[in-house]
Amino acid sequence: MMLLHHPGSGDVEAYKTMEEYVKDGKIRCLGLSNWYIEELTEFLPQISVMPALVQNEIHPYYQELDVVPFIQEKGIAVQCWYPLGGRGYTSELLNDETIVRIAEAHGVSSAQVILRWDLQRHIIVIPGSSNPDHIRENLDLFSFSLTDEEMEAIRILDRNEKHDWY
Ligand SMILES: NC(=O)c1ccc[n+]([C@@H]2O[C@H](COP(=O)([O-])OP(=O)(O)OC[C@H]3O[C@@H](n4cnc5c(N)ncnc54)[C@H](OP(=O)(O)O)[C@@H]3O)[C@@H](O)[C@H]2O)c1
Repeated sequence: MMLLHHPGSGDVEAYKTMEEYVKDGKIRCLGLSNWYIEELTEFLPQISVMPALVQNEIHPYYQELDVVPFIQEKGIAVQCWYPLGGRGYTSELLNDETIVRIAEAHGVSSAQVILRWDLQRHIIVIPGSSNPDHIRENLDLFSFSLTDEEMEAIRILDRNEKHDWY
């Protein structure tokens, strides 16, 4: 997969060049990173190879509640970067009292609760870690599930707090 980063001038031309690589079988599929409703609404009618996914910043403090369904309803996968808030921001999120309470109820970690919350929103997660124990933990997301009440408790943590612009 080849990803086209955030919208800017010349994106349609750049994407059309990438489409040729797909048509020639040189790359399998295309993706976008840091694209939102307004830009996608203008961009998508101009292209012929639908992106397989859009990768955006998403975590409990920045949930993209309008953007995620907008993308998913078009049959495009949503993938989130900074699922744990991003380096430098993880501590507040992992110690958030709502997340900790839910983690304790399931006997899992705060990171697992957040990653499971993403999966239940049908969002692909790509947590970053250089710690083997964390990597193992981050893969162990299928032995528990969050209730509707727990999903709602996390939903109301949204504070439109974006941690980075790329
Ligand atoms: N498309 C874009 O514009 C864009 C922008 C930014 C990032 N990204 C991508 O998004 C991915 C994630 O980004 P990121 O790594 O910066 O942010 P992140 O996944 O939100 O946070 C990573 C931090 O969380 C810690 N962590 C991971 N698992 C943990 C666990 N189970 N318990 C406690 N702490 C845990 C890591 O520390 P340890 O190493 O100690 O586990 C690291 O400090 C990367 O693949 C990155 O390339 C894409």
